[in-house]
Amino acid sequence: MLLIGVPGQSHGMRLPAGLEESSVETKWWHDAVVYQIYPRSFSDANGDGIGDLAGIIDKLDYLQVLGINVIWLSPVFRSPMDDNGYDISDYCDIAPEFGTLDEMERLITEAAQRHIRIVMDLVVNHTSDEHPWFVEARKSKDNPYRDYYIWRAPRADGTPPDAQRASFGGSAWEFDEATGEYYYHLFSRRQPDLNWANPKVREEIYRMMNWWLDKGIGGFRMDVIDLIGKDVDRGITANGPNLHPYLQEMNAATFGDRDVLTVGETWAANPEVAKLYSDPRRAELSMVFQFEHVTLTHDPVEGKWKPRPFDLLALKEVMSKWQTELADVGWNSLFWNNHDLPRAVSRYGDPERYRVESAKMLATALHFLKGTPYIYQGEEIGMTNVRFDSIDDYQDIESLGLYRERTAAGVAHEAMMEGIHANGRDNARTPMQWDTGSNAGFSRGRPWLKVNPNYREINVVAALADPGSILHHYRRLIRLRKERAAIVHGDYQPLFDAHPQVFAYQRRLGDERIVVINNFSPEPVALDVPEELRGLAGECLVSNYAPHQQLGERLALQAYESFAIAARSALA
Ligand code: GLC
Ligand code: CA
Repeated sequence: MLLIGVPGQSHGMRLPAGLEESSVETKWWHDAVVYQIYPRSFSDANGDGIGDLAGIIDKLDYLQVLGINVIWLSPVFRSPMDDNGYDISDYCDIAPEFGTLDEMERLITEAAQRHIRIVMDLVVNHTSDEHPWFVEARKSKDNPYRDYYIWRAPRADGTPPDAQRASFGGSAWEFDEATGEYYYHLFSRRQPDLNWANPKVREEIYRMMNWWLDKGIGGFRMDVIDLIGKDVDRGITANGPNLHPYLQEMNAATFGDRDVLTVGETWAANPEVAKLYSDPRRAELSMVFQFEHVTLTHDPVEGKWKPRPFDLLALKEVMSKWQTELADVGWNSLFWNNHDLPRAVSRYGDPERYRVESAKMLATALHFLKGTPYIYQGEEIGMTNVRFDSIDDYQDIESLGLYRERTAAGVAHEAMMEGIHANGRDNARTPMQWDTGSNAGFSRGRPWLKVNPNYREINVVAALADPGSILHHYRRLIRLRKERAAIVHGDYQPLFDAHPQVFAYQRRLGDERIVVINNFSPEPVALDVPEELRGLAGECLVSNYAPHQQLGERLALQAYESFAIAARSALA
């Protein structure tokens, strides 16, 4: 067993003026920046075409240069890889394609030496169908593990118990010949849902979590955690009646007395629910990953496969709502993208004409908000979506499943490809672009998913060499969060609220004031600066064109122009 603390982990920041009085206990993750690694696509050390732990260890120096404090590691556990590791067959071992438990321990240690903690992906709404619990459970109705999963008898005509659907297509019920019953799965049929109502299941999970915590990990990202309190018979999946009681029980049984970061993936959270999770007095999680800004770009009926045009006013409303609602109670996660979502610059920016400008603008707009920012691998160099012409070049179980289901139901091939190009998960999963070498320096073998052909311009080596790169812009933003308490703890006020192209806001703490202005469009903008901002002058913290140190009566912004000014707010 390996027990390590992260050197230099104390908070290090003076309690800022204006905060001493508050009851908020500051936590190390309040000014941390998280970097998500999708291991399969990050760095392949042994040349089999699949990224691995040794590859991640090789890149720790790079991550230290970037300045991040936490790695959220997508699952590396033993798995048949039906959903690239989100289907776990052994929680206490590493998938051989990723490495060994020894290498995992080495990753934890080596990361700690660089002041980086490792947050593991906890996938406990379901297991793989190859998990020994499920292998046992399906053997007979009286098997001791039967009740670890959710089984129901067929209806009289043999059809599934009800009409619930699985996220990756098809019924949520799979018939199992051996015992003549259906089992429940909200994802693929190879991802049977665990029965959280069974206290033995919960005990096993808590034991496993403690086993990992004892290895010195920095916390857990909790996969689709809002589903664990479900009530299957009433068709309630997200935000079920037992969700919060289970999380409080989990907190008490595992990480409650450890100083770790816990973040729940919660597609169904609204701010009220997010406060239940992240109000420290309730002892549940540090924060949630909520998706309201993501889902507002989806079609109300067809969902992500039919994206809506980007609407900045709607986005601003959502961003401001979460900033305001969680201002005093709870904590936000801040992100534009992850391994399930399209690339930020492709979704919200202009990857063709203004890739660098718009990627920097997006970074600035997000990183000055209150909450913990998450960077998804490759975002820091402005990686873009990919457009494979053939469906055969895609690997993602969701894209393939839905393609099959919808084209069979009459949706045109072109329409489905359009949806996959815009929102398919493989956009995020093409290999990390390290250099101009073969396969973008990701692997000397044949990558499991094709590399995006734009790697010759967009890669880490080029970004490191260019002081004006997106990467150096991210480094600066990460550093600023450590230096400026107003970014971490300041209050939030939207500016230019009704403007359809500009997302702007200010953050204030004590007499420090940071004004952040972002043009979210390729069109130039001319702004009338409101009275209370005129004459504001100070230090330009970041910009993606020439720096601005002050605001006059009028402000002209170029395409995707963005900057932040820090000032003393003696002013109005
Ligand atoms: C989460 C993961 C996603 C996975 C699903 C099922 O949404 O982020 O990648 O497919 O859960 O585990
Ligand atoms: Ca490998």
